[in-house]
Amino acid sequence: TSQIPVITIDGPTASGKGTVAHRVADKLGFHYLDSGALYRLTALSALRRQTDLADEHALAKLAEHLHCSFEGGNIILSHENVTDAIRAEEVGNTASKIATFPAVRHALTGLQLGFRKAPGLVADGRDMGSVIFPHAPLKVFLTASVKARAERRYKQLIDKGFSANMQDLLVDLQARDDRDTQRTIAPLAPADGAQVLDTSEMTADEAVDQVLAWYAGIGK
Ligand code: CDP
Ligand code: CDP
Repeated sequence: TSQIPVITIDGPTASGKGTVAHRVADKLGFHYLDSGALYRLTALSALRRQTDLADEHALAKLAEHLHCSFEGGNIILSHENVTDAIRAEEVGNTASKIATFPAVRHALTGLQLGFRKAPGLVADGRDMGSVIFPHAPLKVFLTASVKARAERRYKQLIDKGFSANMQDLLVDLQARDDRDTQRTIAPLAPADGAQVLDTSEMTADEAVDQVLAWYAGIGK
């Protein structure tokens, strides 16, 4: 599998990783890994089972035994379609808390590596380029201002039928950034050799074109 190309797209919440990674995968005909969904699925399971969110061992067990599948844009957890349910802010916030536990991260590693299949993979998350696929031929770090990201998230939540408050979103987003960048294990930062792309003033398609241009330029 080490010959199968991987493009990693990491960055803070609502920077557009998911949107851009998905479109790049479509254009290249590659598989797509939304690693954040795995943390969200673990969080959703924990919330539903009322698992103690401080119990690292119990959370790692949940992560290790996730019964999930990705079927044409839908995310299935133990036969239930949870595609929208895992996007709730409570689930995202819980995901970012449990993602600080090394045992949880370790439990999800094998699952993530398994997504590397021919003809290639686009993987998005926080540590795709730094930890999971450190030898990826193209690593991208997407960023955007806190304001731009809060506006994007607000629009997404409203479109999905969730209620949202801009002020709360800004506070949550900042807290999530702080937690993701300050944790001791796999903190959010550009991987060695990553191309950094600030999309504050860019459309998603412009970001996609830049990533495709970088990929086309590899080895030239
Ligand atoms: O959509 P958003 O960027 O807010 O989150 P996500 O990518 O769905 O991930 C949810 C949470 O999981 C993040 O806040 C991270 O703390 C954590 N995560 C991680 O630690 N490592 C990854 N590779 C992906 C997500
Ligand atoms: O995965 P991540 O949390 O980084 O972001 P996302 O779920 O892809 O959400 C980004 C949202 O901002 C989507 O609704 C995109 O259409 C929009 N957007 C973008 O992704 N990139 C831009 N340059 C501008 C807007």
